[in-house]
Formats: sequence, structure tokens, C-alpha cells
Amino acid sequence: MYTNILTTQGNGISTITINRPSKLNALNKETIQELHAAFRVADLDHDTKVIIVTGSGDKAFVAGADISEFSDFSVNEGGQLAAKGQELLFDYVANLSTPVIAAVNGFALGGGLELAMAAHFRIASANAKMGLPEVSLGVIPGYGGTQRLPQLIGKGRAMEMIMTAGMIDANQALQFGLVNHVTSSEELIALAEKIAGKIQRNSSVAISAAITAVNAGYKDGVNGFTTEIEQFGNCFGTEDFKEGTTAFLEKRKANFPGK
Ligand code: COA
Repeated sequence: MYTNILTTQGNGISTITINRPSKLNALNKETIQELHAAFRVADLDHDTKVIIVTGSGDKAFVAGADISEFSDFSVNEGGQLAAKGQELLFDYVANLSTPVIAAVNGFALGGGLELAMAAHFRIASANAKMGLPEVSLGVIPGYGGTQRLPQLIGKGRAMEMIMTAGMIDANQALQFGLVNHVTSSEELIALAEKIAGKIQRNSSVAISAAITAVNAGYKDGVNGFTTEIEQFGNCFGTEDFKEGTTAFLEKRKANFPGK
């Protein structure tokens, strides 16, 4: 069905694997479109409670946007490239109502790190290397990197990473808070699935309300506290809320309908 990605679904988890290993999983236009479609399908699937995004092979998560596709672009085409990419993939993933975990299994550079940062959180294999090398190509990060990297690791560290175009290793990323956990390559997906398992025990409706509230704090002209109040109030109208509170009072495990 897809040319550049693989998808699997089971046990409440949809896994989307970027699969262009000969190009270190670089994001060309077609891959971005396929990723948009796959994230959309997974988000609409009632049985999917968590989405894991990773790269195929053991060398790269994604080594960036496909440089061969934009090297002759004009100013206008460059702007369009960033706008379209943010709309289809990066902002789309960040605002998805289903939690997205990026399992960074090697190089996550440029658009690759930007995709990992658009996910709701990240874990990495010990061999992962992360960076925004765009200024070494005469361009800047265009898929949200200048915004999300400072949000995640602080302005000074982000400025240094962007200006030097350098890479940090998994342990440095862990220390910076860019990734939440580091493990071996072999155990990376198992760790992502273990975390996904913990997420799945909770109300998916409440989780998507929490994503909306957390993201609101990073949006211009939106008051995160106001959004939190609205989302909090909405939870009281859900079946999940009735089940969660009833189960607690009845001293049993909640069995959330996800509504
Ligand atoms: N766009 C297009 N092709 C890419 C790519 C990208 N971002 N990253 C890697 N590739 C391709 C290479 O051109 C090469 O293709 P080829 O075999 O047809 O020549 C293949 O993937 C393997 O990459 P290679 O450079 O040979 O691997 P390496 O182990 O020597 O180096 C990197 C790995 C990640 C350091 C190097 O590939 C690199 O610097 N990539 C570009 C990173 C970047 O600047 N990304 C930001 C883009 S905005």
C-alpha cells in the first residue's frame, strides 16, 4: 500500500516505520505524504491507543529532508516546502489526539529530529545521533526545529546546536531532556511498547484532552490555562470519566470505553 513506509497494528499500538534505508530514511515528498496518510489512519482507528514512529534498519531514524529534492528550489518553493511539510506532517503529528512516541534508532538529523520533536515524546537507542545540520547547507530548520528545539532543551543549547550544525549523542540528548530514555538498539521497540502499555491503561479521551491542553501553552494567542479549564470541564461529560471514578470508588480496575 505504501512505498516508503511500513505499518503494523496490534495490541493497541500502531507502529509506523520509515523505510528508505538506502537513503537513511530521508524524507522525500512522497514519504511525507505517506506518513500523513498513515498517521491519519492510525489516529482514526479506535483500536489504536498509541502510535510509535521509528526508522527501518539500525543506522538511521531519519537523516533529514531529502536534499536532492530541494537543491534547486526558489524562495517561493522553499517557503512552500516548509509550509506544506508542517501542515501535512510536523504540526499534524504534534496535534494528533493519539499519543505519538518517537523511537529514535540512529541518525535523527534535520527533518528527522524535527519529526522526533513533533512526536509527543522521544526515546532513543544508545547509537542515536541528533542534530539540526541545516545551516551547514545554507538553510535553516524549516519543519519546526527553530521552535521545538528551544522549547525542549532551552534557548541557549538550541542556539548552539543550530549554529554549530553539530550532532549530540543519545546520552547528551538524555541529559538535555530531548529524549526521555536511552536503551540498546535491540530493546528500543520493546521499551516503546512497554511505555505504550502503561499509557493504554488510562483513558484515551482524557489523554487527548491533555495533549490539547499541553500544546495550547505553546500556541500564540492561546492561553494554556484557559484551555486546561475547558478541557478539564469537558472530561466530566465523558463515559471514561464515569467509568474511571466509579471504578476507583468500587475499588476495581477501570475498563475505559474510550468515549
Ligand atoms: N537527503 C538525501 N539523501 C540522503 C540524506 C538526505 N538528508 N541523508 C543521507 N542520504 C543518502 C546519501 O546521499 C547516500 O545515498 P547514495 O548511497 O545514493 O549516495 C545514502 O543516503 C547513505 O548516506 P551516506 O552519506 O553515504 O552515509 P554516511 O554513513 O557516510 O553518513 C550522514 C551518514 C547522516 C552523516 C550523512 O548521510 C549526512 O550527512 N546526511 C545528510 C544529513 C543532513 O544534512 N540532513 C539535513 C537535511 S535538511
